[in-house]
Amino acid sequence: MSGELSPIDKAKFVAAKRAAEFVEDGMRVGLGTGSTAAWLVRCLGEMVRDDGLKIRGVPTSTRTAELARDVGIEVISLDEAKWLDLTIDGADEFDGELNLIKGGGGALLQEKIVATASDQMIVIADVGKEVERLGAFPLPVEVIPFGWQTTKALIEETLVSMDVLGRTTTLRMNGDVPYITDEGNHILDLHLNRIGNARQLGMVMNQIPGVVENGLFIDICDKVVVGYGDGKVEIRDINAGTVEVDRLDFLEDDNLFTDLME
Ligand code: A5P
Repeated sequence: MSGELSPIDKAKFVAAKRAAEFVEDGMRVGLGTGSTAAWLVRCLGEMVRDDGLKIRGVPTSTRTAELARDVGIEVISLDEAKWLDLTIDGADEFDGELNLIKGGGGALLQEKIVATASDQMIVIADVGKEVERLGAFPLPVEVIPFGWQTTKALIEETLVSMDVLGRTTTLRMNGDVPYITDEGNHILDLHLNRIGNARQLGMVMNQIPGVVENGLFIDICDKVVVGYGDGKVEIRDINAGTVEVDRLDFLEDDNLFTDLME
């Protein structure tokens, strides 16, 4: 291997690798979406292959499903699983109460359904995702295509009475065409800069006709595993009120890296 992972990728990797230790034989595991979750899926694939770990995974997107199958994880649907022992996923922002903004990767709807149907949700993130207050990252809101411009106008009107700093909304694009989610919907990104009351905003957004779901995850996450570029990880448990510090080594000949780096 001649390449070198960036500090952010190292941070994502160590968070994912440490979180994989929470996965036990026989578990039904929700598999998140995004670059950090992709590391997790690779780590779990390695544990299935090398250690004989027996799990069934419920992916939160078609791309995670594809990766999970590629690395040898048995993939089942949420309806087959019915309920999950654990979901591990990334986040775009997390605050001190482990409330989240998710959906930067466009999978917030499945991610919220899967996380909510789990005994426990663990978020894996590099330390750059930590914020004092949610809202610097644009809040993704999934809307149905029918009348999306009307839904957008209703959202903007509603934002006037909300405790937010910015009120611009944009339709997420994929090149020249609107981005389409796995469920055939569009995503509006709400540029709010700062969200004063995330719980209230999340509930109000979901009352607007045409809105399917929003990317605020309130009281869903139980633990966050925070990765640092030097291999340090912190495991913060909101229920127990504990912070555990750990350190992981990088093995440069790790199988996980071989198909990623030249
Ligand atoms: C996917 O829809 C998102 O919720 C991701 O979990 C989030 O965007 C984090 O992605 P990265 O791990 O790539 O930063």
